[in-house]
Amino acid sequence: MLDAAKLKADFPVLQQTVHNNVPLVYLDSAASSQKPQAVINALSKIDSTVYANVHRGAHWLSDESTALYEESRDAVAEFINAADSREIVFTSGTTGAINLVARSWGDANIEEGDEILLTLLEHHSNIVPWQQLAERKGAIIKWCDITDDGYLNLDEFENLLSERTKIVACTMTSNVLGTYTPARQITELAHAAGAIVLLDAAQSAPHQTLDVTELDADFVAFSAHKMLGPSGIGILFGKEALLEAMPPFLGGGSMIDVVSEAGFSTAALPAKFEAGTPAISPILALPAAIAYLKQVGLENIRQHEHALVTYTHEQLNALGKINILGPPPTAKAGVVSFTVDNLHPQDLTHALDNQGVAIRAGHHCAMPLHNRLSINASGRASFYLYNTLSDVDKFIQAIDKAIQLFS
Ligand SMILES: Cc1ncc(COP(=O)(O)O)c(C=O)c1O
Repeated sequence: MLDAAKLKADFPVLQQTVHNNVPLVYLDSAASSQKPQAVINALSKIDSTVYANVHRGAHWLSDESTALYEESRDAVAEFINAADSREIVFTSGTTGAINLVARSWGDANIEEGDEILLTLLEHHSNIVPWQQLAERKGAIIKWCDITDDGYLNLDEFENLLSERTKIVACTMTSNVLGTYTPARQITELAHAAGAIVLLDAAQSAPHQTLDVTELDADFVAFSAHKMLGPSGIGILFGKEALLEAMPPFLGGGSMIDVVSEAGFSTAALPAKFEAGTPAISPILALPAAIAYLKQVGLENIRQHEHALVTYTHEQLNALGKINILGPPPTAKAGVVSFTVDNLHPQDLTHALDNQGVAIRAGHHCAMPLHNRLSINASGRASFYLYNTLSDVDKFIQAIDKAIQLFS
């Protein structure tokens, strides 16, 4: 098991007090995680030693930064067990990665009447690009429901697959309920029906081992800022054959081979999908985040978060007046969303913030899921490797106080 209190000391942001000298308890890592000193140092070292534009240089600095850029790609490929670094495309985030697929693969392959299968667990990032695609093409979106206790309804999923289903876009972990989806079964069923699969791993890659080869997913998307890395970058994994066949998404520098007045030809993978100057420093610093995660161990992280979630469920249930959303701790990641009787999540979050406890309130970019749960908003505490049981205690004490304050 990992020593969260020891790890926390590596995160400068978490050493602070807020408001009137209240120690900060950060329970919003599902929105964005904090950076360890090693990542902060990497960013600073890059900017003060090797920073230059990549893939264009005829000078030492650019060669150095280009080499580190490609090393970062290699580190990502190894981290998710991709067969080849050419299958790793740097994007602006999970959102950027999904939009790339919806635009490039979608526009080339989706026709009127084709079906796109989504689930009610999706984040808006894995909904809206498909709705836009469906609008452009006259395609049909099908929605797989959840069970009342917050699991993906796999029987319904199977029934919804048809010969018209072209793509399934599904999260691996709900950012609201924490529910793990059976990603391997989803890819198997979808492939058997002749559809391809995009897995949204934004809440999964940071918290458990991600093996894209074992999952056999066609596309996988995730963000660096949720896995201890810098913001502004994300990763799209795509099977080489699919990426090869897809037209470029954005046009500009770096993604071309030759440009003439008559037209252009595209660069080889993965440059084809990386038009313009990328987020150089964040990408070069990403291996420091990956190294940190690997050193702690993804399985240790998963188990630690499981222990935190189990304890949080117990403590919230003991308080009373709390409705925890989604499945029991055994079936979920480090995310606990809930409502409190007669207390709006925004008011609760405000009261918690005054006590130094940072959680999130709202629909968490998952309005269809909240509609399904017949609520407008919920509170969400989300955990990471630096959270301790004592953080949970402070969270519970703060809720208790808030309930008393508002009653
Ligand atoms: C499940 C899920 N998908 C997609 C996203 C979007 O990620 P980003 O904002 O980094 O593009 C998030 C962010 O919260 C998420 O939780």
